[in-house]
Amino acid sequence: MFSQLKPVAIDPILGLMAAYREDPNPLKVDLGVGVYKDEQGHTAVLKCVKEAEALRLKHEDSKTYVGMAGDPSFNTHIEKLAFGATHTVLLANRVVTAHTPGGTGALRVAAEFIKRANPDATIWVTTPTWANHISLFQAAGLKVKEYAYYDYDTKGLQVEQMFADLEQIPAGDVVLVHACCHNPSGMDLNFEQWQRFTAIAKERGFTPLVDMAYQGFGAGLDEDAAGLRYLAEQVPEMILCSSCSKNFGLYRERIGAVSVVGSNSKETDVVRANLLSVVRGIYSMPPTHGAIIVSHILDSAELTALWHDELAEMRNRINSYRQLIIDKFTAEGITQDFSFIARQHGMFSFLGINKAQIERLRSEFSIYMVGSSRVSISGLNHANIDYFAKAVATVLKG
Ligand code: LMR
Repeated sequence: MFSQLKPVAIDPILGLMAAYREDPNPLKVDLGVGVYKDEQGHTAVLKCVKEAEALRLKHEDSKTYVGMAGDPSFNTHIEKLAFGATHTVLLANRVVTAHTPGGTGALRVAAEFIKRANPDATIWVTTPTWANHISLFQAAGLKVKEYAYYDYDTKGLQVEQMFADLEQIPAGDVVLVHACCHNPSGMDLNFEQWQRFTAIAKERGFTPLVDMAYQGFGAGLDEDAAGLRYLAEQVPEMILCSSCSKNFGLYRERIGAVSVVGSNSKETDVVRANLLSVVRGIYSMPPTHGAIIVSHILDSAELTALWHDELAEMRNRINSYRQLIIDKFTAEGITQDFSFIARQHGMFSFLGINKAQIERLRSEFSIYMVGSSRVSISGLNHANIDYFAKAVATVLKG
């Protein structure tokens, strides 16, 4: 039977991670996967996480099952973090949350849930979108289509084409929108565009699915959630998938959440039953280590303040490098306009260079980025930014 399997291409992002690890060049630079690195090129465990883990060891008194929705305290915290503590959907008991194995787990649960609600649903994603979105939704049996988003020429949004595409999407379909720090382009909707998006969602009746993997990496925790909070106030139903991989640095603990907003508290009971039965059919119950760490942090004013500081440090470092890249490129005599990098948000931007140039950066300089020219900015630091700028200048000259 296994001999009938066909070869499958390795995931473009995770494959790059493995290739980087194997490269013996001491000058190698990793701009691939979306994992935060500090000035030393290290992905350290946050101090607030270390303290919360110590609390967990001290207080944990049982390893019994948690139930399909996972840790109730985590679920309450994550809802407040995303929607804001006094959001109308929370006060009206319209939200059902299950904590999941990572943001990817949240997306997969959401996909299976959508399939139950409407087996014929198409899910619409931005052009381009996170490399794993399309295959993940297809694996769950959903049809996937794309709507216009990033403009490779202007390095901004294809605003009018995007809204024209959204105007054509019918009720019964789902539209995925990135809450902030668009992966892979770094180009986000502004608040006015969120308002337009919301008006179209209401008029057309499609269901928004907001993917929030980077809350706190753009402008701040509340600022990054402003668009989705507005949307949730206005639409009768939506889904939110969130992740604690990046903002709590809990990548390998696999902790995320799926929150479904129903149109009223009665409907919410049916939503909950379906969501939990989807979970039961995939992994039964989520692992709790990451969830309890997050709960301990958010239960404590002191640890929350420490977390806010550590998150701001990560965000500010990335933002300062956005300008530094432009300055270093100018210093190397690059005349091409890279000013867009400073207008974008979060971990990523596209450099906008071609495949041959990306390949040369990798083969001649051991500089790794995704084949779309997406760079994960925190891979740069004071020890490697000049090397990087010189290498880019070299390949741009041809
Ligand atoms: C990325 O886009 O690099 C991250 O979200 C990691 C991943 O799983 O792809």
